[in-house]
Amino acid sequence: MTRKALYTGSFDPMTNGHLDIITRASKMFDELVVGVIVNPNKHPLFSKEERVSMIEEVTSHLSNVRVDSFEGLLADYVNRNHFDAVVRGLRATSDFEYEISMAQMNACLFDEGIESIFLMTSPKYSFISSSMIKEVVSLNGCVDDLVPQIILQRIKEKYIK
Ligand code: COA
Repeated sequence: MTRKALYTGSFDPMTNGHLDIITRASKMFDELVVGVIVNPNKHPLFSKEERVSMIEEVTSHLSNVRVDSFEGLLADYVNRNHFDAVVRGLRATSDFEYEISMAQMNACLFDEGIESIFLMTSPKYSFISSSMIKEVVSLNGCVDDLVPQIILQRIKEKYIK
């Protein structure tokens, strides 16, 4: 039986912290879909298409990973596409509080048997967020070890006109 998981987020843009979770989750499932969400509460730097294509480039060496995008309720997308699990990364205890309420709400909305699974973010990346990376790059700070080079280049192109 094929085990299929979703790793979702806004990925504006993807960082090495996300890549770490994707790499590890891809070893746990037969298929891992990275689902780029269009979050109406956020004003992204990158379009949905740019975010999808950057993740595709960076994960091209992972043969069981593919990238998709969606809007609306996470549970609708998960049920419609018959995922077995949704993977989330935990960076700090503050993430846990948000994640537990989201997982419990999703448990009410998911079809039977779909699980939320949490992976601890590598300590190397536990302090980063996409917003922090964008802010540091926009102010000419060095984040070479925190973002894939291809993505770092794209962020610089957005800020250096
Ligand atoms: N490494 C580095 N950074 C990480 C990370 C990791 N492992 N995991 C998360 N982050 C960062 C993200 O880059 C993001 O940074 P930002 O806020 O600066 O953009 C931040 O942590 C928060 O990430 P996340 O919690 O994944 O937020 P998100 O907006 O990317 O995704 C959804 C949130 C998509 C899971 C949630 O909004 C959702 O499910 N929306 C759909 C609507 C819905 O169904 N709502 C009901 C839910 S019960």
